[in-house]
Amino acid sequence: MAAVVDTLRAFFAPSTFVIDSENAGDVVARENLLDRAMGPGRRRKSSEKLRRGRVPAEGLALVARDRDGHVIATVRLWNVEAGIDREGHAVPALLLGPLAVDPTHEGKGIGGMLMRAAIEEAKSRGHGAILLVGDAAYYERFGFFAERTQHLVMPGPFERNRFLALELKEGWLEGAAGMLVASGRKLALPPLKRAA
Ligand SMILES: CC(C)(COP(=O)(O)OP(=O)(O)OC[C@H]1O[C@@H](n2cnc3c(N)ncnc32)[C@H](O)[C@@H]1OP(=O)(O)O)[C@@H](O)C(=O)NCCC(=O)NCCS
Repeated sequence: MAAVVDTLRAFFAPSTFVIDSENAGDVVARENLLDRAMGPGRRRKSSEKLRRGRVPAEGLALVARDRDGHVIATVRLWNVEAGIDREGHAVPALLLGPLAVDPTHEGKGIGGMLMRAAIEEAKSRGHGAILLVGDAAYYERFGFFAERTQHLVMPGPFERNRFLALELKEGWLEGAAGMLVASGRKLALPPLKRAA
């Protein structure tokens, strides 16, 4: 894991939670947490179309753990193309989500810590921008605004005032227009069984 997460871990050592990379053993706990925090409608979101069948961007699946190592919050970021620029080239970016904190741990700053860790990790890995669909009143504190997404569309229904972006490199989304398209590595499918 990159230096950013190690630094946060050290800084918050006396705290009741740590930020860490997600590993394969966290998947069941993460899915249960998302069901509890977001309900069954979470799989019908337009963002889900950009995540389905893909793996998260390298190094950008993070969790918060309690003292016993249990997953109490999750955030993942996904590779997308955010339309095309004025020269017609695809604009690589990240889509963030879902972000969720276990309801029994809300309001302790865990969501904020996870967001800042994810943003710093994305920046340190050279990404240019992060997009998401969520409450502006929450995400504006991290620098996400609707201004840079005005010529972009999600591949399904979405509320424009909740379609937000943060540029990690100034001007990265300048002129970006069109539909978001998934561009991350595809999940490996289990091999087909051959007939005897
Ligand atoms: C939104 C969420 C991630 C916040 O996590 P958290 O750990 O409680 O957040 P923090 O402790 O870092 O921040 C709490 C602050 O955010 C505010 N906040 C939380 N949700 C908010 C929202 N939807 N809109 C505006 N402000 C919000 C709280 O009022 C609190 O404000 P304060 O600091 O002025 O008291 C968490 O409530 C959650 O998982 N919600 C359900 C899933 C969800 O909606 N995810 C986001 C969409 S992808």
